[in-house]
Amino acid sequence: MRVKNDPETGGTKPRIIVMGSFVADLMGRAAHIPVSGETVKGNFFKVGPGGKGANQAVAAARAGGDVAMITKLGEDSFGDMAFDNFVNEGINTDYVFRSKEFSTGAALIMVSEETGQNSIIVIPGACGQIREEEVVSAIDGLVPAHVLVLQLETNFEAIAESLKAGVAKGLKILMNPAPAHEIPEEYYSMIDYLTPNETEASTLSGVKVVTVDDAKRAARILQSKGAKNILITLGEKGALILDHEDNFLHVPSFKVNTVDTTGAGDAFNGAFALALAEGKDIVSATVFASAAAAISVTRIGTAPAMAYRKEIDDFLSNNRPNR
Ligand code: RIB
Repeated sequence: MRVKNDPETGGTKPRIIVMGSFVADLMGRAAHIPVSGETVKGNFFKVGPGGKGANQAVAAARAGGDVAMITKLGEDSFGDMAFDNFVNEGINTDYVFRSKEFSTGAALIMVSEETGQNSIIVIPGACGQIREEEVVSAIDGLVPAHVLVLQLETNFEAIAESLKAGVAKGLKILMNPAPAHEIPEEYYSMIDYLTPNETEASTLSGVKVVTVDDAKRAARILQSKGAKNILITLGEKGALILDHEDNFLHVPSFKVNTVDTTGAGDAFNGAFALALAEGKDIVSATVFASAAAAISVTRIGTAPAMAYRKEIDDFLSNNRPNR
């Protein structure tokens, strides 16, 4: 479904609604991530826009979507940073709420320079206080749209209401169950695309997911709970899909020079939402999203590291998945 004129192309862009978190990312890089009780001298510090919801919105917008964000910010400088960032990225802010009571959330991110891997503490703050009636009025006000993208970083009451409202409005539901948290059984049948990583798939299914075969077992369990299409991201091992016609499909990853994996899942999900909204099939959408994620890990940071459409298209012309 294409719903808005695109002044750049004269054509139209598919509309995507993201309900989720914004938090300010306070990120430090050091030779390694400290273990409990250890202090490590770092080499780099940056404050920037983050939060899984907002990162996915930026990824979808840069990939070519007409994106609307539903979230809640405090009335503080981090909230202003969020607002400016949404506006700069061309993201609709009609339903970005502000709270007088709660501060904008923050994430404390440590990144290893050696591996590019991270550890994160996220404090959702205002975005964890969004109310059910706010998300319902937002979805009402933002349709028509093609895809509703959700994660698990905000309060579950608002996520549950978004699911119900999205289904009622006929939106395709993409649920990225991050950070890992159980989902009550009755909500699975509302999910068109469930996209856990290994850790999240393990939490949701009870199967420890390491290999592609583990992912197949986990995907079957998630299918039996009612999710229509399951896509488990496996880092270097690519992505395992169990689609609504009961086919297992494996999409290999791209090999790149990794400097920071933070936000790679968000890059994937934002681009995947855009590709689905454009009408790509699940495998083509996964390849497109894998390319967006591969580009993002070659850059430092989260939202600022998301790939633009031309970069993704060029990357796909010049690279083949790592078989
Ligand atoms: O997925 C990465 C994001 O998770 C970071 O931007 C951080 O804010 C945490 O929420």
